[in-house]
Amino acid sequence: MKSTFLKRSALTSLAIAATVLVGLAVAENTDKALLERARGLFKALPDTAHVDDYPHSSERVELGKKLFFESRVSTDGRMSCAACHSPSYYGGDSLALSVGVHGSLLPRNAPTVFNTPLLIAQHYGGNRVSVEEQAMKALLSPHAYGNKTYGEAEERMRSLGYKPLFEKAFPNEKEPVTAENWATAIGAFERTLLTPAPFDRYLKGDQKAISKDAKIGLDKFMSFGCAGCHNGTVVGGQSFQKFGLTEDYWLATGSKEMALLKGRDKGKFHDTQKPEDTYIFKVPQLRNVAMTPPYFHDGSVAKLDDAVRIMARLQLGKTLSDDDVSHIVAFLSTLTGEVPAHFASVPILPVAPYRN
Ligand code: HEC
Ligand code: HEC
Repeated sequence: MKSTFLKRSALTSLAIAATVLVGLAVAENTDKALLERARGLFKALPDTAHVDDYPHSSERVELGKKLFFESRVSTDGRMSCAACHSPSYYGGDSLALSVGVHGSLLPRNAPTVFNTPLLIAQHYGGNRVSVEEQAMKALLSPHAYGNKTYGEAEERMRSLGYKPLFEKAFPNEKEPVTAENWATAIGAFERTLLTPAPFDRYLKGDQKAISKDAKIGLDKFMSFGCAGCHNGTVVGGQSFQKFGLTEDYWLATGSKEMALLKGRDKGKFHDTQKPEDTYIFKVPQLRNVAMTPPYFHDGSVAKLDDAVRIMARLQLGKTLSDDDVSHIVAFLSTLTGEVPAHFASVPILPVAPYRN
């Protein structure tokens, strides 16, 4: 009797141990399968976003950093790239709509400047092909710098004492202080602003880099169809899509009409005037999204949970449960990288008499 009991209990323990082992093996396989699926849709960040078209040097990056923080090239002496793309706010400005030169209100929310060289194009309407073109045109934008001509902006740079720095960054050029070189230098700096995050370590095989909840969120992000638009190296930024596939977007976001746009923001339409581009916006990257509220092109939504719910409703016709939302937000938080140290330390700029 006793021995049968012992045998039974030994057998039971064996069975339990086996179940646990099988359970662990299943969990490991599920973990592996999830990683494989994720690798099919996303890619870890490269080490740098420099490209052959824009040769760089440390002098160029250093000059680009100074120019990025330089406000005296703007017509009111207050606007710099950093005014709207600040290290303190993860490369954005934390406002719903940016405030530009002479206090003018911009019609859009400032996206982070991190990882942007990896986007298909710049701006929500994609009207700038590269970060360099973006930086050059900002000089003349009536909202950003307000210069009437490139000559006016170049004259400001010269009078501020930038010539020796341009000469070092662009050797062998007779007159290196040009708007093109301003753009190349700022672009060289921006191309260093990549933010590797826990999700990159995960994609490289470190299963412990992200939490269990984040993995559930990743699974949902892929299964629900978010990754159909938000995919690739920066989890978005690769295509243009209609905002509001199931209903008009402003019904969900509460977006207001804007005088500057003569009504609702119609996205790419404002740049192309083609009817088929109405309400088409560039899919934004989701790297660092947890750090850059408020959300959407006009900052109309304050919280990430709400932005996730709205996306599911407007783009996929789905209603998410509270659990779905918190899992997806846990996943999105694994996209938060560190602010690059060389961006977080502010540069000392040339000493020059203030004049506007
Ligand atoms: C007054 C605020 C302001 C200033 C100054 C400013 N920006 Fe921006 N930036 C914005 C806003 C707003 C947008 C979004 C515009 C749009 O999508 O139409 C933007 C978009 C961008 C983008 C595209 C990001 C993306 O995801 O598409 C880049 C890159 C960028 N700015 C870099 C710069 C650089 C470099 C400078 C300095 C030369 C600069 N910005 C100056 C507010 C500003
Ligand atoms: C059909 C394409 C598409 C799908 C599917 C999609 N999105 Fe988006 N997403 C966009 C576009 C386009 C925007 C930009 C909208 C705007 O601001 O005008 C956006 C914006 C966002 C933003 C705001 C980012 C910011 O910085 O303001 C978040 C967060 C987001 N999406 C998450 C998700 C999640 C989570 C899902 C799945 C539930 C999802 N998206 C599904 C196209 C899509």
